[in-house]
Amino acid sequence: MTTMPLGVKTTAHSAAAAARATDLSKVYGEGETQVIALDSVSVEFRQAEFTAIMGPSGSGKSTLMHCMAGLDTISSGSARIGDVELTTLKDKKLTQLRRDKIGFIFQAFNLLPTLNALENITLPMDIAGRKADQAWLDQVVATVGLAGRLKHRPNQLSGGQQQRVAVARALAGQPEIIFADEPTGNLDSRSGAEVLGFLRNSVRELGQTIVMVTHDPVAASYSDRVVFLADGRIVDELRNPTADSVLDRMKRFDAKGRTS
Ligand SMILES: Nc1ncnc2c1ncn2[C@@H]1O[C@H](COP(=O)(O)OP(=O)(O)OP(=O)(O)O)[C@@H](O)[C@H]1O
Ligand SMILES: [Mg+2]
Repeated sequence: MTTMPLGVKTTAHSAAAAARATDLSKVYGEGETQVIALDSVSVEFRQAEFTAIMGPSGSGKSTLMHCMAGLDTISSGSARIGDVELTTLKDKKLTQLRRDKIGFIFQAFNLLPTLNALENITLPMDIAGRKADQAWLDQVVATVGLAGRLKHRPNQLSGGQQQRVAVARALAGQPEIIFADEPTGNLDSRSGAEVLGFLRNSVRELGQTIVMVTHDPVAASYSDRVVFLADGRIVDELRNPTADSVLDRMKRFDAKGRTS
């Protein structure tokens, strides 16, 4: 099926950026209850790169993902997917862009209760009128360990299994960018490691772009780059992280927090 063009085709100059925030601010509420969830954040997520976002609870990680994925409006600044400025899009185009270019794994899984696991996995493609690449779909399903559960509805699955359905749903359509909010938060360490390894391979071998929020230094070590948020600002960045180097950096923030 053909869709309306959503923007200028990627140019050589910006080919590397799958998504980019520039001076992005997000303010909730006003007056006494005002919360500055994101305070002039500028960050770029390159194509075929696996980025982890870390930071304390309430630091703005989910807000950044929602704003970049066009699921929430921004207060000021710019949010782009490829060359498309999200703030200029009307609802219909934004919905189309989300559907065609973005995969999202939420903190809550957002599965449809009336559909079985397989139907949930292929739902975004079914809505878009696209056919799943069967070999890829089989590989995704096998990796997340759901082959025996495809006919089950979400309420017949464990929390971890539901999370794996949500992971498979995001990967199935091979979107331009996947935003994942703690995708392994509910998984035991072995299933978590399998899902993380699979996410990393989809980046290395297929050029998938992934941005993943996590609290876990081990999960972060699967990424190419860790971006640290605190109080709605980017405070640090680490390339080629190991669990130890991430932990070390987190400790340094804690120490700063105590002395200031
Ligand atoms: N809809 C909302 N209305 C008002 N304030 C909000 C809303 N959503 C988030 N906030 C506030 O914005 C800040 C950032 O929240 P956010 O959910 O992005 O944090 P987070 O880093 O994802 O935290 P966690 O690790 O606990 O998931 C918090 O102070 C939160 O209370
Ligand atoms: Mg969050």
